[in-house]
Amino acid sequence: MKNILVTGGAGYVGSHVIVSLLEQGYGAVSADNFANASPKVYQRLRDLTGKDFATADVDVCDAEAMARIMREHDIWAVIHCAGYKAVPESSKKPLEYYQNNLGTTLALCKAMRETGVTRFVFSSSATVYGTLQFMPITEEHPVGRCANPYGTSKAMCEQILTDTAAAYPGWGVILLRYFNPIGAHPSGRIGDSPGGVPFNIMPIILQQLTGKIPAVPVTGDDYDTPDGTGIRDYLHITDLAEGHVAALGYLEHFTGTDAINLGTGQGLSVQEILRGMEQAAGRPIPVEVRPRRPGDIAEMQADPSKAKRLLGWETKRTLEEMCADAWRWASQNPSGYEGE
Ligand code: WQD
Repeated sequence: MKNILVTGGAGYVGSHVIVSLLEQGYGAVSADNFANASPKVYQRLRDLTGKDFATADVDVCDAEAMARIMREHDIWAVIHCAGYKAVPESSKKPLEYYQNNLGTTLALCKAMRETGVTRFVFSSSATVYGTLQFMPITEEHPVGRCANPYGTSKAMCEQILTDTAAAYPGWGVILLRYFNPIGAHPSGRIGDSPGGVPFNIMPIILQQLTGKIPAVPVTGDDYDTPDGTGIRDYLHITDLAEGHVAALGYLEHFTGTDAINLGTGQGLSVQEILRGMEQAAGRPIPVEVRPRRPGDIAEMQADPSKAKRLLGWETKRTLEEMCADAWRWASQNPSGYEGE
């Protein structure tokens, strides 16, 4: 059995990646210090998969701890999901974002060099594309000149990994550039449980539907889009997780570094997301139009053809499924994992 080290395995992406790994016959080890997650998710993962996996309550910046895990569990590849990802917060705490997002990546690379692990899947983001020059966005789009330290930290990690793979022949690195993951595992047992004040649209809609806020702030309805609201490439979190397992298959025979977009290729507006959530919850969602958020753009949409070509991966789940699964998670867990 191939054992995969998943950093941030207690988080939104990492927990769904563990489900897909276990379902597809991999072993999993989660390394998470619960900086932005709850340990309660681990038992839920065991319950819904019927399988066990190892966990380590450690800081991923600790290279010695990472090397110890790689040796003890005979790790075949690393999937690096641990990181700070709140865009507005990153502009207020740049030092913490660079320290953590680069520190975890550097520690993992050092541990891999020490232990002979050579396969790495990186949780990157479409934010690395910075100021957009063309649409839909292919992996050839320039990277960098990001609008916030979060995106810049991701672009820097991609550079660290590219240079490291070039220095150590035999390493295979896949940079997965996520667009906008939403939804939850259809069981309703795991989902997005953001600590603090959420800033993404879906957790905010779910706050309204669970009575925490009176209305959803729509940040800008005067964009040059069909209904005036922002368009993004939303994909189901389980599609995203399956993309990680597909990347592991590619690493069976790939060495070097390659970037791959994970998106649907079909953008959706805020209004379309709101309509989808009203249908899922069976009730109207009050909104309040606000000014645009600084740095926000009208439209982001992936060209996902490279993922199809190289990984044989494409999204399968619809807007209706994304909304129904998001609502099932939130209605059963109105306070996320803290509600237990
Ligand atoms: C989506 C749309 C807003 C909040 C961010 C990160 C990106 C990735 C995904 C990590 C936009 C509108 C939002 C609200 C609204 N994360 N909106 N009211 O900004 O596309 O991307 O999350 O990798 O890196 O940058 O996602 O969900 O914040 O916004 O109307 O209260 O919803 O204007 O059009 P975004 P988002």
